[in-house]
Amino acid sequence: MRFSEEDIAKVKEATDLPALIRPHADLRQKGRDLWACCPFHKEKTPSFKVDPDTGFWHCFGCGEGGDAFGFVMRTEGMSFPEAVGFLADKANIEIRKDPRAAAAAGQRQRLYAICADTADFYMNYLHKSTDHSASAARDYLSRRGFGSAVALQWKLGFAPGNQALVQYLRMRKHRDDDMILANVAIRKGRELRDRFYQRIIFPIADIQGRTIAFGGRVIIDKEPKYLNSSETPLFHKRRNLYGIDQAKPSMHEHRLVLVTEGYTDVIALHKAGHSYSVATLGTALTAQHVKMLSRTVNRIVYVFDGDEAGMRAADRAAQHIDRSLSPEFASSPVRLDVVCLPRGADPADLMESDEGQQQFTQMLETSTPLIEFAINRRLEKWDLSRPEERQRALNDSLDVIVPLKGTMLASHYAQQIADRLSSSGGDISEKQVLDVLEQARDRTAIGDDDAAEQSRPETGDKSVRVIKDAESVSSLSATELIERELLALMIVSSGARNYVLESQKRTPFSHPMYLAAYEQMTRLTDAERSHVDITARLDDVIPGVAQLASAYYFEDTGENTRALADSLLFRLRESALERKIRLIRSDLQKGDSAKALLEELARVSHELHQIRAQRFQ
Ligand code: UTP
Ligand code: MN
Repeated sequence: MRFSEEDIAKVKEATDLPALIRPHADLRQKGRDLWACCPFHKEKTPSFKVDPDTGFWHCFGCGEGGDAFGFVMRTEGMSFPEAVGFLADKANIEIRKDPRAAAAAGQRQRLYAICADTADFYMNYLHKSTDHSASAARDYLSRRGFGSAVALQWKLGFAPGNQALVQYLRMRKHRDDDMILANVAIRKGRELRDRFYQRIIFPIADIQGRTIAFGGRVIIDKEPKYLNSSETPLFHKRRNLYGIDQAKPSMHEHRLVLVTEGYTDVIALHKAGHSYSVATLGTALTAQHVKMLSRTVNRIVYVFDGDEAGMRAADRAAQHIDRSLSPEFASSPVRLDVVCLPRGADPADLMESDEGQQQFTQMLETSTPLIEFAINRRLEKWDLSRPEERQRALNDSLDVIVPLKGTMLASHYAQQIADRLSSSGGDISEKQVLDVLEQARDRTAIGDDDAAEQSRPETGDKSVRVIKDAESVSSLSATELIERELLALMIVSSGARNYVLESQKRTPFSHPMYLAAYEQMTRLTDAERSHVDITARLDDVIPGVAQLASAYYFEDTGENTRALADSLLFRLRESALERKIRLIRSDLQKGDSAKALLEELARVSHELHQIRAQRFQ
């Protein structure tokens, strides 16, 4: 949902920032500001500052900071819109919705109520029923170490079937249509029937702990072993994760999450102390999962069973590798690792013995980056001692890193691939690998919607960007890459050019060649500046600039190019400020005159958080 600037400002104004933060940190007044030990990293002396006047918080220890929305996003693991909704509710502010949205919201509320009542009904049945099948379910669960305390913690239940649930929900005045929509009942002829029959029920909750779906396991050997809710307006298996509500505090504390494949794995892992564990719900890890998790953690360990299905799930997850994993494209990139369990064992099995638990902990410590795992899986398919297979192995393994093209990570792994292939008797250099990587653009279909969007040229209405550079860009630094893209944009689009020239007080460029080009642009007359093609004017001063621009493709529809310029300018300013902070910190360590440096640090940090808050508002 989109909010108006006005509504966002209203919510922010109505939010009492210190009151919001207090449950997470022991705030003490010091002058105008409030200070505490940072809730986002371990420390003994307070370096976490809250400024009630500006509405910003910042930690001088770990560099985290933001406004009220940022704080909720970090502590509750929410997206920006979710955080706005959360704080609006808290402050009792009605955010404007159109009537259709209001109707949908009403329906969602009814579905939440059905799911909550369903979970209650099944839970009651498991704990209280004298039925033979319910007691068999209790026995089964305690044999697996999931006695009544564990069952209560996870709201486990038992579904008897036979329309028992439908009758209960009707008594609670729920509508038939809503039961069907929530996927707890199905229509069979003229009858409404329970969806789950004779199964142990694992309720699935969203990040706020509301039940949104169910998984049901048979007790006796029968197919299918698990039956899960299908997609509903509340439940999307590509987005939701089992156990996320209970794992959240611990994920937050350890900045770590373990992603497994099964309900029982999560329960057993939590019981054994790995309370930062969640499970996917019958899909591989998706890009949406990664994005959501990386707001709370800086390391995701994808744990999968060592069978072929598990490996394939990891292969699929590797398709979601993108530039956001590379250090230069995120202020805190997430580490995405995999642990491949021994064949035939899953985490729940390992948690059953001390030995298994130790083995598991050890495997966590020796996890492999997902990218490396995926590359190795592909290299293993070929006989590297044969030159023609080496060539195919090169292409195959490079597909993994195509989405990373032009990043530090890409050159790192290109190097690894080159090493692997040349140690097998070939003489493939990193340069060659990077060249193939450059050509790889056209023959690769990337499995991800967003990525497919990006590789679609000319048509399409989004700001499509395709780097088609003859020379490899992998050797350039992150900043230089961004500067280069910005300059190319300014050359190609008069809208972006005027926008940047008018909005910037100082040059955003540091690279001498780009700096010179920018300065040349500032000297152009208004008429010249607005001319579509200015390459000739620039080429007088800096030969070759025209060629630089032709290496990029931009969809020039005013809006897009300004948005892109904004994002590039933001990234440049952000990394300049981050660099400055690093410098000041190192000066501070050398013991240079502390007071002035601290003031400088505060100023720079404040600016950094201000531009981030502006950008993400
Ligand atoms: P597993 O077969 O590994 O089950 O499936 P499990 O979670 O280890 O359960 P236990 O320990 O044998 O009781 C892993 C996950 O795959 C999905 C479920 O989400 C399950 O948790 N699955 C499996 C299904 O959706 N349907 C099935 O028939 C089997
Ligand atoms: Mn399993």
